[in-house]
Amino acid sequence: MFSFRAKSLFKPYFFKTICFFIGIFSIPTFSYAANAALKNGKLIEETKCYACHAKKSGLGNGDMIYTRADHKVTSYSRLKTMVATCNSELRLDLFPEDEADVVHYLNQQFYHFKNN
Ligand code: HEC
Repeated sequence: MFSFRAKSLFKPYFFKTICFFIGIFSIPTFSYAANAALKNGKLIEETKCYACHAKKSGLGNGDMIYTRADHKVTSYSRLKTMVATCNSELRLDLFPEDEADVVHYLNQQFYHFKNN
């Protein structure tokens, strides 16, 4: 009786079905998390970074520091370094997760580096 039930749990079709449903239901969870990260990154950029970039670049537009012709960031790893530098040098006190979200947002919005 017991051995019969235990065995039937490990039948391949049962296992596949379970995997299928776990897969299906995790898709919205992942995309929700990705969206939340982007929103968080955007919010942080707008509140903590934008104004200073607008002023320091002398362009009056905080986005243009990322897109100006001689911009400094030329790879994903340099983007991470630059965000970390602005964060620690200027004592903005971002948590590592927030820093990662800003990097993700800036890459998606402005830099478009692949392989990260
Ligand atoms: C108090 C002013 C100030 C604040 C606040 C600030 N930055 Fe900056 N940031 C600068 C200046 C100045 C530069 C230009 C440095 C240069 O050209 O060498 C810069 C450049 C950058 C660049 C490089 C742009 C490029 O491609 O050339 C990135 C990326 C960046 N900052 C990210 C951030 C992020 C993210 C934040 C907020 C979490 C932030 N910075 C907050 C002053 C600031």
